[in-house]
Order: sequence, then C-alpha cells, then structure tokens
Amino acid sequence: MHIFITGFMGAGKSYLGRNLATLLGFQFIDLDEYIESQSGKSISSIFKELGENAFRQIESDCLQSLALPNHSVVATGGGCPCFLGNLAWMNEHGVSVYFFAPASLLAKRLFPEKENRPLLAPLTKDNFEAFIDAKLAERATFYEQCHLKFKVPEFGQNGLEELADYLRKFFT
Ligand code: S3P
Repeated sequence: MHIFITGFMGAGKSYLGRNLATLLGFQFIDLDEYIESQSGKSISSIFKELGENAFRQIESDCLQSLALPNHSVVATGGGCPCFLGNLAWMNEHGVSVYFFAPASLLAKRLFPEKENRPLLAPLTKDNFEAFIDAKLAERATFYEQCHLKFKVPEFGQNGLEELADYLRKFFT
C-alpha cells in the first residue's frame, strides 16, 4: 500500500510527504526527482526540449512503473493527478491525499521561485495569482477525487501526526 501526496505546486507536498514518511517509517519518493534521475534532465529542460505533452507521458510512465517498496509515501508533481488516468491509478494502488492551499498563499510562495516551474516562468507579477487561481479551478475536479483532503494553512505538525496515526491503521 502506498500514500500519494498531491496538490498544486507550492502546497508543500515534498516537505509534508517527507515528514509523513518519517513519522510512518516508510520510504519517501519524490516523483519529480525520480523523473529527473531517470531521464538525466531537469523538469525544466524536459518541458523546453520535448514540450508539456511529452513530459506528461514521461510523468505517467514513471508513476505507473515505479518499483515501489512495500510501504511508501510518494509526492507527485502538481499536474500529475490531472493527466492520463494517473489519479485513478493512484486511487487503485493506495491512499491519495490532497493538500489544498488558496491561490493567494500559493502565489506568495511560488513567485520568488517561479523560474524553476516551466508553467509559471513566463508569468509576470500582474497575472501570476490569476493564473494560479484559474489553474487551481481547472484542476479541482481531479484533486477533489483524492481520498483525503487537508487545508495547508491550518495543517501543522499536529495535523501531520494525526494523519500519520490515522493512516497507520490501514498499514498494519
Ligand atoms: C507541475 C508541477 C511541478 C512539476 C512540473 C509541472 C504542474 O511539480 O511536475 O513543473 O503541472 O503543476 P511540483 O508541484 O512539485 O512543483
């Protein structure tokens, strides 16, 4: 059984997933890092050289062929659940968790590091939050199909410990 951490870019999926894995004593896998190690290219170069559609195919192939250890926590990229049946696959292979954060918080976190995110790099301060708001709305129908949903601003270490306690019951 596996735990899949999803949510928009900037929601803190890798940080939360890594800490959750530590609390549970499970292995942690960051899907973007796995894609980069498999392809020998950064996510930005894959987008630049091959385009988004090719990235989505690589992302889906990597997810669905991950040689997962018995129990693991996998943090996916923000778009992963929204393409190529990935969320249905995750829901079949484990528990999916959606970390929601409002566009205003995401924009504040993401603007300073937008160059690392190919979908955000071309945006300016003027259209940044509006773009995130629109993408979040577009993707909500996917994210909302996750098994569990938590709101990031209210989710601290306590939330993580409670989630670990809750999930432990399914993995004994
Ligand atoms: C993307 C999110 C990124 C990465 C790629 C595309 C998206 O991952 O997979 O830049 O479409 O939301 P993070 O959510 O880990 O930043």
